[in-house]
Amino acid sequence: MGGQTIDKICDKGFPMDTLDELKSQILGEIEHATKLAVLEDVRVSALGKQGRLTLLMKELGQKTPEMRKALGAELNALKDVITQALDQRKAQLEEEVLNARLASETLDVSLPPRVMPQGKIHPLSHALDQAIHIFGQMGFVVAEGPDIEEDFYNFTALNIPLEHPARQEQDTFYLPPSAEDRQPLVLRTHTSPVQIRTMLKQKPPLRIIAPGRTYRSDYDATHTPMFHQIEGLVVDKKTHMGHLKGCLEEFFRLFFEDPALNLRFRPGYFPFTEPSAEVDALWKNGAWLELGGCGMVHPNVLRNCDIDPDEYQGFAFGMGLERITMLKYGIEDLRLFFESDLRWLNHYGFAPESRE
Ligand code: DAH
Repeated sequence: MGGQTIDKICDKGFPMDTLDELKSQILGEIEHATKLAVLEDVRVSALGKQGRLTLLMKELGQKTPEMRKALGAELNALKDVITQALDQRKAQLEEEVLNARLASETLDVSLPPRVMPQGKIHPLSHALDQAIHIFGQMGFVVAEGPDIEEDFYNFTALNIPLEHPARQEQDTFYLPPSAEDRQPLVLRTHTSPVQIRTMLKQKPPLRIIAPGRTYRSDYDATHTPMFHQIEGLVVDKKTHMGHLKGCLEEFFRLFFEDPALNLRFRPGYFPFTEPSAEVDALWKNGAWLELGGCGMVHPNVLRNCDIDPDEYQGFAFGMGLERITMLKYGIEDLRLFFESDLRWLNHYGFAPESRE
């Protein structure tokens, strides 16, 4: 339309009609504005300094009081309507812009970080990764079991009789029995129950390691109530002690990065192996250091898992992750692993490997 003047409006005799026309024109423009910039143009052309409505209002100032009275209120009302319509449309368009942005800028949280993380890998995690890697190359797969364990798996099935000292209160954290079947529950004192769980679930041949948390009521420079073990189990038809020795020798030589590392298998006793042995390594300082326990799986244990000991034999081993990590990195006090001292973590921690 354009070029409305008060005189023209009044000339027509029906100023309200002409104002209505202007109103529907501007409102139409507002409705059809599909971009914020276009909407801003509409605003300026209606309410800006030279805007259609502004000019009418300016003009009105020079007219007679009657005319001002007649049209002033109408113009103000029109201005309010238009301002409100502009605000509404603006909010709508802004929301559309935001929605379009949200739809286009999706965030893939699985992408590798562009900035290297500041944190360090805890030495225990690092050592465990290495151990899993070495055993993995030897054909072992990782098995898991629960931290809260039934007495049956932690003791009974492992041929640990009721009167065995490992069952005594000072070592084992006992929990209230399970709600459903009143099974006695413990925090597992070793990772050996994973042997039982695995043998009950899978048929031989088996070759597993079971790393995980273990719990005993003990606290000093070499004991914390929570610590980690790595369990190993191999069951097959012709498994013998020579396989056990070769396997652990290979593992420890790779883990300690010493191809000439000297191991000693010293007779020992564990209820779940027969014969049993303790494994020692001849350390750089000339001392024999104990690394773990091992042996041939006791026939009773195989029988408890429905495996015929006349057909299958197995070997098993268990080692403390903290112990082998302390030896590898020269860490003197076990408790430091769990103090979360940032200075210590920065010193003993490992830079994350680049994943690119
Ligand atoms: N479970 C034993 C412990 O916690 C360690 C162990 C010894 C595990 C001999 C074994 C084994 O599998 O054969 O002291």
